[in-house]
Amino acid sequence: MCGIVGVVGNTNATDILIQGLEKLEYRGYDSAGIFVLGGAENHLVKAVGRIAELSAKTAGVEGTTGIGHTRWATHGKPTEDNAHPHRSETERFVLVHNGVIENYLEIKEEYLAGHHFKGQTDTEIAVHLIGKFAEEDGLSVLEAFKKALHIIRGSYAFALVDSQDPEVIYVAKNKSPLLIGLGDGYNMVCSDAMAMIRETNQYMEIHDQELVIVKADSVEVQDYDGNRRERASYTAELDLSDIGKGTYPYYMLKEIDEQPTVMRKLINTYSDENQQMVVDPEIVKAVQEADRIYIIAAGTSYNAGYASKTMLEELTDTPVELGIASEWGYAMPLLSKKPMFILLSQSGETADSRQVLVKANEMGIPSLTVTNVSGSTLSREATYTMLLHAGPEIAVASTKAYTGQVATLAFLAKAVGEANGNEKAKKFDLVRELSIVAQSIESTLSEKELIEEKVRGLLETTRNAFYIGRGQDYYVVMEASLKLKEISYIQCEGFAAGELKHGTISLIEDGTPVIALISDNPTVASHTRGNISEVVARGANALTIVEEGIEKEGDDIIINKVHPYLSSISMVIPTQLIAYYASLHRGLDVDKPRNLAKAVTVE
Ligand code: G6P
Repeated sequence: MCGIVGVVGNTNATDILIQGLEKLEYRGYDSAGIFVLGGAENHLVKAVGRIAELSAKTAGVEGTTGIGHTRWATHGKPTEDNAHPHRSETERFVLVHNGVIENYLEIKEEYLAGHHFKGQTDTEIAVHLIGKFAEEDGLSVLEAFKKALHIIRGSYAFALVDSQDPEVIYVAKNKSPLLIGLGDGYNMVCSDAMAMIRETNQYMEIHDQELVIVKADSVEVQDYDGNRRERASYTAELDLSDIGKGTYPYYMLKEIDEQPTVMRKLINTYSDENQQMVVDPEIVKAVQEADRIYIIAAGTSYNAGYASKTMLEELTDTPVELGIASEWGYAMPLLSKKPMFILLSQSGETADSRQVLVKANEMGIPSLTVTNVSGSTLSREATYTMLLHAGPEIAVASTKAYTGQVATLAFLAKAVGEANGNEKAKKFDLVRELSIVAQSIESTLSEKELIEEKVRGLLETTRNAFYIGRGQDYYVVMEASLKLKEISYIQCEGFAAGELKHGTISLIEDGTPVIALISDNPTVASHTRGNISEVVARGANALTIVEEGIEKEGDDIIINKVHPYLSSISMVIPTQLIAYYASLHRGLDVDKPRNLAKAVTVE
């Protein structure tokens, strides 16, 4: 992961770098640094912690060109020595890097005997290698960089400067994301478009194993053998106001509140005024032709895949299998004869998912990326894309992307089902049902005070907790427990309610919080209620979240009834708020939980 920015030919370089890094902080936030040149003197500034710590150290740092980095540690602890930018042996070359260099120890041994390293990072070895080729072996900067790129194996987005030459930034990428931002009289590089949207909406893609020479008035793309490649620019459709927090204390609360709007946006995007589905016929055809759908994802997106599984199976008459991206990347199971891969990914950049997509492409398997970020790597490299239209999600804990994913897959499922003549699909009035979901979400959002109150009593000091549910609710509790873990640091497990008694019930003791989700099916509900009694009898502190119509006296949170295919959207909302308030009342940084990053671009 980590975030990279760079700018060449702008007298506000420091400001542009700091502002860009602030936007990229979601990618990593344990330490940061910038190198600025082209002013009276060159400056290297680093700080452990957030960008604010770095910014506080940049008074008087001026120049026209610079590179910056916000780090999510992979090699070595978050210290100033390990923070980027890193410098070569003579300190002439300066590099920032996002990714993991697999052969860094071999490189150190083979090429860099006698070199001195300040930290433990793979990046420092890369810049020493470039420095060696340029200064000890007499190659030009470009040739030295190219030679190093031929040797380095792994994932990387690099931005390199020669401290004696403020006119140029050299960049290269393989697997990790990096874009060129085109300014008026200056140019930039960045890990994502959001980091530079204040300056420009014109961007240029870089493909894997390309090197780009970025100057104030030109951008030259080459392969590693020096062959030039033409590349057109594109306009990023992002609005600066989308990425503000407004009056909200945290992005997460803003993004939770945006979910009814996202549902309505998806209705407008994927259906017409006659409530007919508007889904690319090519995508519908590709899914129709498949004998099995494989959903590949990580984290919250993986849970969204499960939440959509039953609906997809029943409406498309096609079995759906889930794959953990980080497993399938190197251990692909036996596939069906006509597989179709759906890559679910908020960011569209998750390296684990991309690894699976690369394999799927090699095997000639059709693929659909369902993502929030148009032009993202997974979107570019898959056969088809459907967008979530959720607006930028900044909080590390994903909320509106999860509900957006389930809703987007509902449109796909219905479109395919109708094309297949599936009766359930024909009867499923998705536009109406999703409008009801939007209202249900609004109703739950109006109960924030009640939910906050319940959380105070239940989760303010506990070290562990359980979520339980059956059927569709089981899939939701997987996500609910992940959300709670991520931002409150409470050790929490989501369990199939009936499975708890087969072992894990031994962990229940006086005061253990157990949160039960009960939606829709009265038979299933009565079984789950039995499981609640079992844990209460052993001292658990239970909280029930129940769909209206099957509620009982004493239930804690009642959720408006929605279509069973969509209950994973309405039932997840209170659990998002539970996680939010648990984190808030435990005094934690809701938006930037420790050790995590939003876009995980390392495998
Ligand atoms: C990271 C984030 C999670 C996210 C997962 C998958 O681990 O911290 O919140 O769910 O990546 O990300 P994606 O962008 O592929 O949905």
